[in-house]
Amino acid sequence: MADARPFHWEYHPEPVAREVFRIEGGRRLDGTVPISGAKNAALKLLAAATLTGERCRFTNVPEIEDVRVMAETLRDLGVVVDHPEPNVYEVASGDVEWLFVPLEAAARMRASFMLLGPLLTRFGRVIISNPGGDRIGRRPVDLHVEAMRALGASIEYRNGYYFATSPGRLRGGEIRFPFVSVMGTENAMLAATLAEGHTIIRPAAQEPEVDDLITFLQAMGAAVERTAPDTIEVEGRKRLRGAEHRVVPDRIEAGTFIIAAAVTGGRLTLEGAPCDHLAAFVETMDRVGVGIACGTDTIDVDGSALLEGGYRACDVETAPYPGLATDLQPPTAVLLTQATGTSHVHEAIFEDRLEWLSEVGRMGARVEMIDAHHATIDGRSRLVGAEVEIGDLRAGASLILAALAAEGTTTIHGAHHVHRGYENIERKFLDIGASISRSAEGTTDTTS
Ligand code: EPZ
Repeated sequence: MADARPFHWEYHPEPVAREVFRIEGGRRLDGTVPISGAKNAALKLLAAATLTGERCRFTNVPEIEDVRVMAETLRDLGVVVDHPEPNVYEVASGDVEWLFVPLEAAARMRASFMLLGPLLTRFGRVIISNPGGDRIGRRPVDLHVEAMRALGASIEYRNGYYFATSPGRLRGGEIRFPFVSVMGTENAMLAATLAEGHTIIRPAAQEPEVDDLITFLQAMGAAVERTAPDTIEVEGRKRLRGAEHRVVPDRIEAGTFIIAAAVTGGRLTLEGAPCDHLAAFVETMDRVGVGIACGTDTIDVDGSALLEGGYRACDVETAPYPGLATDLQPPTAVLLTQATGTSHVHEAIFEDRLEWLSEVGRMGARVEMIDAHHATIDGRSRLVGAEVEIGDLRAGASLILAALAAEGTTTIHGAHHVHRGYENIERKFLDIGASISRSAEGTTDTTS
C-alpha cells in the first residue's frame, strides 16, 4: 500500500504563530450566541466552485483559518477568490493555471484533498499532495483514490504525491465504499458531476454538510440526488454553471455552546442553530439532564440542573450521521466529567481522539483510558485551573469548555488551533460573560 505519510525533501513547515488562552473559570454563561456557517460545508463548497469557470458566490462563510487556507490554496492554482465583505466569498475558476496542490497546502489542512475530484474531472489531471490535518490518528485517503479509479482515473503515488490523470472525461460507475467516509463521498460526488454517464455511491455519508453540497451542485446544474438515505446517484453533465449558496449552520459549533451552557449552569439561546442536525446529540443531552428547547432556527439551553440535582452519567458512542458526531465527542466528554456516576465513551471513528482527555485529567477529571477507542469518566469531578496544551481543533474547544467549568485560571497553549474552525470564539464567549483572553505565546493578553 502507498506510504500514508506526507514526504517531501524540500518541505519545511512554516513557523506557526502560537497563541495562549487564559480563562478564569466558574462563571455562569448567559445570553445569546450567533452560530456561524459550517466549516465542514464551506471548505467543500469552495472546492466545488472549481467545477465551473463561472463565478460562484457563497454567503454565511465562517471567518476561520481553514477557509483562509483553502482560499489561498485556490489562488495559488490561479483561481480568483474575492472576499468582498465578511462571510462572503466569490470564486471564479476560469483560468486555472496550475494543477498542482503542494504539500505546503496539504500539510496545513486535510480538506485540501477535496480538490482531487473537481480538478481531475474538469481538467483530466492533477498532482496533489497527501494531506495532513488534525492529529487524531492515521487518516488515510485510500477511499478517495479508489473512488477516482472506479471512475476510470489512473492514479500513481510517488514521493508523497498522487499523480492523477484521465485520458478523456471520467466515466460514471459504481463506487462501493467499505465503510462511510464523509470526504470520500464528497470527492466521489464532485468527480461524478462531470463524468460521462451514471454514478452510484454507496454507502454515502449522510452528514448535513454533504446534503448542503448536493444543494449547491444542483444549483450549478448538476444532476445529483440522494436516492436513498445511504445512496447518492449522479448523472454526469458536460459542464456546470456558476451559482450562489448560503452555507448551512455549524452543528458542531452549536453543540460546543450547548455544552458551554451546561457545564457552567448557564442559559443560552443559540441563534441560527440547526436543531434538526443535532438529534443524536440532543438525545444525549436529554439523558444527561441538560434542558434543550428547539425553535425553528434557535436552540435554548438550560444548564440549571448542574446547580440543582446534578447531571446523570451516560454511555456514548460516536458514529457516522445520523449517529453522535465524533466532532462532538470531546465536548460531550467534558460534560460527563460533571455528571454523577461512571460514563463510558466509545470513539468509533478515529484512533487517538481520546488522547486529549489526559489534559482534562490534569484539571482534576477522573478519566481512565482503556484503549485507543474507549475511556471511562467518573464524575462528578471538581475541575481546577491548570496549564494545558491543545493538540487539535475540537480538543482545543473542549479544553476551553473544561476551563470555563473549572475553578481558577487555566492557561491553554496551542490556542491557534481553535481558530482553524471557530469564528470569533473568544468574542462569542466574552459576550456571554466568560473571562477569556488570548495572547501570543510569551506575551501579554490581547483581549480580555
Ligand atoms: C470529515 O473528515 C470531517 N472533516 C471531520 O471533521 C470529521 O471528524 C469526519 O468527517 C467524521 O465526521 C471535514 O469535513 C473537513 P471520514 P473525513 O473520511 O471526511 C477512515 C473537524 O474537526 N478513512 O468520514 O476525513 C478515517 O481514517 C474534522 O472538523 C479511511 O480509512 O473523515 C476514519 O477512521 C476532523 N480511508 C473514517 O474513515 C479514507 O480514504 C471516517 O473518516 C478516508 C477515511
